[in-house]
Amino acid sequence: MLIGWRHIVVLLLAGVLGALLVAWSGLISVKASTGHWKITDIVLHWVMRSSVRTAAIGTTVPVFTEGMLPMAAGHFEAGCAICHGSPAGSRPDSVAKMLPPPPDLKDKIAAWSDAELFQIVQHGVRYTGMPAWPVAGREDEAWAMVAFLRRYPELDANGYRDLAGSLETEPTLEGVIETCNGCHAPERIKPRSLIPRLAGQSATYLEQALAAYADGTRPSGIMVVAIERLDGEDRRALARHFAAEPARLQGLASENAARGEALAVTGDPVRRIPACLSCHDKSEANPAFPRLSGQPASYLENQLRLFVGKNRGGGPFRHVMEKAVANLKEGDINALVAYFADRKAQ
Ligand code: HEC
Ligand code: HEC
Ligand code: HEC
Repeated sequence: MLIGWRHIVVLLLAGVLGALLVAWSGLISVKASTGHWKITDIVLHWVMRSSVRTAAIGTTVPVFTEGMLPMAAGHFEAGCAICHGSPAGSRPDSVAKMLPPPPDLKDKIAAWSDAELFQIVQHGVRYTGMPAWPVAGREDEAWAMVAFLRRYPELDANGYRDLAGSLETEPTLEGVIETCNGCHAPERIKPRSLIPRLAGQSATYLEQALAAYADGTRPSGIMVVAIERLDGEDRRALARHFAAEPARLQGLASENAARGEALAVTGDPVRRIPACLSCHDKSEANPAFPRLSGQPASYLENQLRLFVGKNRGGGPFRHVMEKAVANLKEGDINALVAYFADRKAQ
């Protein structure tokens, strides 16, 4: 007898029905207590590995810099160590009972390429507890985490603490400030840092920035996790605290600064670029306009790129800034950040 297409259809339907029957019978265990069979474990990891490998095809890997490490390390401590542990502490027992358990990442990183790690950090891993990056549109932050993960296997407890800043702090305002300073303390901010200085900004700007992180109008996975336990009153108190700190801004010299100065002072009417200094760093400026002088060049550059790409967001006046920088070219950005990073606080 020849096997006709009807036999195949019947067989397929029987297969589907059979599978439904087994699922309905309740014989498939979803108990996390007993773990996966070895074979299930192997198959699931094979599926994960293949899926990540395919998703990573064609991903362009950016250049990693030292400036990416501290903010990613601080975020690792706040958002990843609770599951994966860290060189400075192991994870809680309850987390080790998750199925699959979050692995100690020390021995895991080498098996993945940069692009594959990016896929895991940016998108998470479905059917495991591994979460996606907290906000969309901030691939630059996920890449910073990849740069940190590459360094991770070499770190001992001290090396990790040096990068991550304050680890355990009290849930008081002082304790929270200590956590903020783990990333934002002036002495921790290096020229290539992607973390801004807070001292010297107005309380208005800082409070609006924190509110914008909290409600998502300024997307940042790092900042949204850093302030997740704070309410509006806490944010106001923190804004006041940091605005009152003396701005000890040192100039960070660079050759490109002269061209930047011309743009910042007079703008370029032909290319419809306004003078930055008509809004920024004036003594009687609108307090919602942040100070730029003395911020790390890498931070300013990253924020300008986000504005130009319409990914920055911010407080109630963010739209005027989006307009102001819409026509900036790469060369303008480099010159402007060199000028402002080098400029002493006024
Ligand atoms: C709620 C717990 C949880 C949190 C929080 C978490 N992870 Fe995971 N992570 C997991 C689990 C579970 C897996 C999957 C393990 C597996 O495949 O068996 C995983 C897998 C990974 C892997 C792949 C490791 C491998 O080879 O299997 C990396 C890399 C990773 N996580 C990094 C991070 C980073 C970076 C963060 C913080 C931004 C983070 N994780 C936050 C639970 C977590
Ligand atoms: C893990 C490191 C880290 C911690 C901890 C942290 N921050 Fe931040 N903070 C950053 C980074 C990185 C940015 C830039 C984010 C972006 O791209 O918008 C930032 C931005 C900010 C800004 C915006 C400043 C500007 O010039 O626009 C404010 C305000 C701020 N943080 C306040 C705080 C406060 C208050 C705390 C403590 C509750 C805190 N941060 C904790 C890393 C951190
Ligand atoms: C019309 C006023 C205006 C002009 C002109 C202007 N800006 Fe802004 N800029 C703003 C405002 C308002 C913000 C704050 C947005 C927010 O986060 O709420 C801002 C934010 C920024 C930030 C982010 C600072 C931080 O701490 O995160 C940078 C960098 C910046 N501007 C650079 C420039 C440069 C460079 C120019 C000149 C090409 C310029 N701006 C022109 C109003 C202006």
